[in-house]
Amino acid sequence: SRSINLAVIPGDGIGQEVVAEGLKVLSAVLPQDVKLETKEYDFGAKRYHATGETLTDADLAALKQHDAILLGAIGDPSVPSGVLERGFLLKLRFAFDHHVNLRPSKLLPGVATPLAGQPEIDFVVVREGTEGPYTGNGGTIRTGTEHEVATEVSVNTAYGVERVVRDAFARAQARPRKKLTLVHKNNVLTFAGHLWTNIFNQVAKEFPEVTTDYIHVDAATIYLVTDPARFDVIVTDNLFGDIITDLAAAVSGGIGVAASGNINPGRAFPSMFEPVHGSAPDIAGQGKADPTATVLSVALLLRHLGYDGEAERIDTAVAADLTERASLGTRSTSQIGDALASRVAG
Ligand code: IPM
Ligand code: MN
Repeated sequence: SRSINLAVIPGDGIGQEVVAEGLKVLSAVLPQDVKLETKEYDFGAKRYHATGETLTDADLAALKQHDAILLGAIGDPSVPSGVLERGFLLKLRFAFDHHVNLRPSKLLPGVATPLAGQPEIDFVVVREGTEGPYTGNGGTIRTGTEHEVATEVSVNTAYGVERVVRDAFARAQARPRKKLTLVHKNNVLTFAGHLWTNIFNQVAKEFPEVTTDYIHVDAATIYLVTDPARFDVIVTDNLFGDIITDLAAAVSGGIGVAASGNINPGRAFPSMFEPVHGSAPDIAGQGKADPTATVLSVALLLRHLGYDGEAERIDTAVAADLTERASLGTRSTSQIGDALASRVAG
C-alpha cells in the first residue's frame, strides 16, 4: 500500500498556522489507501534561542528519512539577520542538494494584480538552488578598515548548470506552450553567462519541440511587468531567480498565493515545499494569515511524489475558492483551510 512519510516544520510566526491548514487539506485530499505519517520538528527562532542550534547533523540525518518536508516559515526579528537564513534554510538546500528551486506564477481568477488589464500570467521559474553567489565563497580582507574589501564569488559549475537547465527543458516540454527562456546577464557577467548560454544551447538540441529565447535579467524585470504573458518556463541562476520570483509573486497575486519547492529531482534526498512568504511576526497568532500559498505548496509536494490527480484537485479547489473570495468577506486562516479541505474532499 502507498504511504507518505512527511517531515513537518511549522517554524516561526504564521508558519504554525498555515502549516496546520496545509496538513488539513493534505489529509482531506489523500485517498483512504494512502497512509500519511507526519513527524513535527521544532526548528526556528525558539529552538535557536534555547539551544543555539539551527540545524545539526543529527537533524539532517533525521530529516533524510522522510519522503518530503513541509515548511511554514523560519525567521524572527529577535534573531540576527543571516543566522537562520544561512544556518537553516540554505544549509538544508545545500545538504539535500535542492538544485531545482521551483516557483510557479499563475494569476488565478478573482486575484488582483497591480498590472493593468489583467494579463494572462502562467509561467514557472526554475531557479538554480545550490550555486551562484549563495555558496559562501568569499570573504573580506583589511576587515574593519577604510580599505576593507569584500568578495562574494558566484560559483557556476558545468555539472550544476547542465542539470538545472535540463530539468527546465523537461518541464517546458511537458507544458502546452513548450517555451523556455534563459534569464542571465551574459553581456556583463561574461564568464558565468557564457557557461549558461553554451550549455543552454547545447541541451536545446535534445528538445527540438521547445522554443527558446534569452533575456538579460534587467530586461526580464521590464517584461515581467509589461508583458508577463510572454513567459512559459524561465531558467536562471540562484540570485537572479531569487529577485525575479519576488517580482513574479508581486504581479501574480502576491505572497499570499505564492508557492515554492526546493527540489532534488532524483529523490536522493527529500525535497522541501514552502510558501514564499516569511513568518510575518506582526500578524502571527491572530488567524489572519492566508494559508493558500502553503496549500498550493502541498500541491507541488504531491506532484513531486507522483500524486498528480490529488495535486490537480488542490489546484482546482484553490482556484474555485479564490474566485468566490470577494463575495465571502473576511475569513480566518482556519476558515479558509476548512473551505479548501471540504472542496478537495467533496
Ligand atoms: C527565498 C529567500 C531566501 C533566498 C533567503 C531567506 C535565504 O529569500 O527563499 O527566496 O534568498 O533564497
Ligand atoms: Mn527570496
